[in-house]
Amino acid sequence: MKLFVNNREIEVPASAMQKRIVEFLREDLDLTGTKNACDIGACGACTILVNDEPLRICVKLVKDFAGARILTIEGLAAPDGTLHPLQQAFLDCGAIQCGYCTPGMVLTAHAFLLKNPRPTRDQIRQAIFKNLCRCTGYQQIIDAIEKAAPHYQREERGLQAASASEKAETQKSSNDSELAGVEAG
Ligand code: FES
Ligand code: FES
Repeated sequence: MKLFVNNREIEVPASAMQKRIVEFLREDLDLTGTKNACDIGACGACTILVNDEPLRICVKLVKDFAGARILTIEGLAAPDGTLHPLQQAFLDCGAIQCGYCTPGMVLTAHAFLLKNPRPTRDQIRQAIFKNLCRCTGYQQIIDAIEKAAPHYQREERGLQAASASEKAETQKSSNDSELAGVEAG
């Protein structure tokens, strides 16, 4: 069985199939950013993105992830180690204390901001309310997510511009082929 972790293809040995995925990531792949805090799916500390959706994985087995695209906190920073703007915003806003909730919180917020890059504070609160943090009181976390939102707005504009240019290119090729057909006829 294969799965894709932080854009890397992983061949999973048969012996690991019945292992819990959180242990597989932490012990076999050395991706210890993903935390296992409550072990019963209640706190959100183990949240990663699976096919772009946040998922709590502490009670899930490796075999349930065949072919899945997984993003852990280690995959969010740039390859040279530069923090993602959302990670940087967490640092800047003092949204990290013990850090145990942080990877799950950041990935939950990342998935949320990709879908909603112009959130209200209330929407941010709703998006993270199932991720528990016993240290910060949440205000700094909400501040950080709000601070990072402009980055996602720029990304969205970039994607829209790329899509518009792709459409224009497709239309131009289609016009060119029609013109070639007319000239040949
Ligand atoms: S460690 Fe998975 S939800 Fe708490
Ligand atoms: S920073 Fe400690 S649990 Fe959130």
